Amino acid sequence: MVRKRVGILISGRGSNMASLMDAARADNCAYEIACVISNRPDAAGLETARKSGITAVALDHKTLGSREALESAMHEALIASQAELVACAGFMRIMTGDFIAKWDGRMINIHPSLLPLFKGVNTHERALQAGVRVHGCSVHFVSAELDAGAIIAQGVVKVMPGDDADTLAARVLAVEHRIYPAVLNALAGDRIRLEDGRTVFSDADAATLSVIADN
Ligand code: GRF
Repeated sequence: MVRKRVGILISGRGSNMASLMDAARADNCAYEIACVISNRPDAAGLETARKSGITAVALDHKTLGSREALESAMHEALIASQAELVACAGFMRIMTGDFIAKWDGRMINIHPSLLPLFKGVNTHERALQAGVRVHGCSVHFVSAELDAGAIIAQGVVKVMPGDDADTLAARVLAVEHRIYPAVLNALAGDRIRLEDGRTVFSDADAATLSVIADN
């Protein structure tokens, strides 16, 4: 089996990145990590990647100056590492339509809410404020509109009485760490694709990935 090479984009602690790296150690995993790129040189995830011998690239968006300069450096690093897919894992920069178009159908993101609810930041606080009873995370293809690309899979958690943003975030994160590697594996195995702005699953088995729940 030829494994697809994946570039991971991060900005911070990189726990989702680590879950993608862990899953890649399995013999039957359909992907391997080509590189990890951060727009913040102090991102803890860069060190985690380096320790595992993975190419870790720091591209400081402040030094690079413009969104376009950051993206062209990111694109270069992705191509240099022969990445075929891109997984955003806590990458906190808004991307231009040009960059997104280059990776159309090949770039995915994990967002900590059940989209289309709570796009953007502070999702757990907003979920609590809204009083929703279920919350979770969504893995979606990246499209030009922020957090609005075709949804691939969603992980569902119950909102418990007494939850605060931290306890809720922790429960969602545990589901993120299960769902993201599973989706990336299926995408790399050509069992999921983007067609006319919708997610298509090639078989019933792949479709079962689309919902997981914490209990
Ligand atoms: C995760 O909650 C992810 O859903 C969101 O940002 C957070 C990143 O956490 N996009 P980590 O860096 O993967 O630990």
